[in-house]
Amino acid sequence: MASTSGPAAAAEAQLQNVDGRRVTSLDGAWRTIVDPFENGYYNYRMQPHSDGYFRDAKPADPSALQEYDFETSPTLQVPGDWNSQRPELFFYEGTVWYRRLFEAEKEPGRRLFLHFGAVNYEARVWLNGESLGFHRGGFTPFGFEITPLVRSGSNSLVVKVDNKRHRDAVPTVNTDWWNYGGLTRSVRLVDLPATFVRDYALRLREDGGIEGWAQLDGPDRHPVTVRIPELEAEVSAEPDAEGRARFHLDVRPDRWSPQSPKLYAVEIAQAGDPPDDVVLDTIGFRSIAVRGDEILLNGQPVFLRGISIHEEAPGGGRATGPEHARTLLGWAKELGCNFVRLAHYPHNEHMVREAERMGLMVWAEIPVYWTILWQNPDTYALAEQQLREMIVRDKNRASVVIWSVANETPRGEARLRFLKGLIAEARRLDPDRLISAATEVTTREDGIHLDDPLIESLDVLGVNEYVGWYWGAPEEARATRWHSRHNKPLVISEFGAGATAGLHGDASERWTEEYQERVYLEQVAMLRQIPFLQGVSPWILMDFRSPRRPLPGIQDFWNRKGLLSERGQRKKAFYVLQEFYREQAAAAASGR
Ligand code: GCU
Repeated sequence: MASTSGPAAAAEAQLQNVDGRRVTSLDGAWRTIVDPFENGYYNYRMQPHSDGYFRDAKPADPSALQEYDFETSPTLQVPGDWNSQRPELFFYEGTVWYRRLFEAEKEPGRRLFLHFGAVNYEARVWLNGESLGFHRGGFTPFGFEITPLVRSGSNSLVVKVDNKRHRDAVPTVNTDWWNYGGLTRSVRLVDLPATFVRDYALRLREDGGIEGWAQLDGPDRHPVTVRIPELEAEVSAEPDAEGRARFHLDVRPDRWSPQSPKLYAVEIAQAGDPPDDVVLDTIGFRSIAVRGDEILLNGQPVFLRGISIHEEAPGGGRATGPEHARTLLGWAKELGCNFVRLAHYPHNEHMVREAERMGLMVWAEIPVYWTILWQNPDTYALAEQQLREMIVRDKNRASVVIWSVANETPRGEARLRFLKGLIAEARRLDPDRLISAATEVTTREDGIHLDDPLIESLDVLGVNEYVGWYWGAPEEARATRWHSRHNKPLVISEFGAGATAGLHGDASERWTEEYQERVYLEQVAMLRQIPFLQGVSPWILMDFRSPRRPLPGIQDFWNRKGLLSERGQRKKAFYVLQEFYREQAAAAASGR
């Protein structure tokens, strides 16, 4: 029976650091069926029916009527979106069925899990015709234990992916990015012992030592051992009745920073002889805080030289692998960045881990974007679920310094309550990181006022402003005064202008590279005058696809505010920002 059984494992049950475990990749070519009327799930009365596509049935006798067959259906690559793999799916919003056969060996005392890096937007999952459950949210991981249902030999895994937008979803129906649908991140099988280390967290203590916890999942309560070989550190901790083992290491690790992105190999093992479950991770240790209107990294004021980035591969389509991460973050480093705003949703883990290796601090964000249904409790639950899934996944990443709960959300009481709820949940889950949101400004004749009531609840004040593009002439920027009654650090989380790479003309002509360059020059002149400015992440690193940008010959469904085109062509404004960051870095280095 097609079950509408429960949601995927809750965030707290999420497997921490799947890359550091025994995994089998299910990436590659999956058989697919495009199903705009969801015929594989509902009968003609629109009721879930019992012999849907999820049965992956083989007709017993050739004369039997069956109107689908995965075995002879076309394939799509996983991970990846369908829009950029098949021209006929470029604008498609609806259901695509994915099916993968895989071999498994059931071993007594072992447990098997399915892990999805992310699926946009709703995933319903079946194994051998049995429902495992569903997940909503296009940018965070989820999974299911399949031990009772997996068979030794061949298994049929079927996923119904539906990327239709919904008014009560997160994000809602209107976004300035492409609604890439599909199994957009890796799918893996994770092989684990009966009792294993499911989750863990390590953090720097105020005294410079390390403390943390490990959470067991399963019946045993063996001691947990944590080792950091480079620090010659090892500790064994007894789990409590709930399987949580708390520990601290009296060591003094070198601090992680953009200048010195030091990472330590960490082994978390559940004892046993030999240990039957060892998770390997690489973790950096640093502190992040605010003091008045300053941001302090490892106790020192830092200016965030950033750039905003969408999870878009050069050429279009969802960025998926480590090579995309290295390309995008390599361009950020070339700009002179020490910071990236991964907009407007949690990016894939390669981006966050590559940022850690390359020495880039990260602003991570959930897609509470524009006109969310603030009054709807189900919408709030979805937002909170995605926040938890993001924090559970990335809480051990030194690169992540800011959790952002929203982008450009219209002010109002219901919105304020909704966002304050998310902020409280973020602080409960992770008291160490800074909380922000990209808010909108109020412009008056005497300049820009930072008066969003949400600011009281933020550590870092994020603001998007488009002086010279969406309002005012570029030269108004340097004459603009900023007014804030908050003694808090400001990050200008967006400014920018559109330009078509290679289109040249007078600097008064919109869409030329010269116009975009002029906006950047005038914006930089303004930035220098804002005393409480502690960071900026201009919009945006690279042109990206958007259904809201159809202007023929200029946009052609690309948002052209990139400093690089989707083919990696650097526009003139790229060099304006690069020069500004060169000066900022020199000033920081000389302590000015
Ligand atoms: C907004 C929004 C972005 C959007 C940008 C633009 O500030 O946050 O998602 O792409 O402006 O208009 O290009």
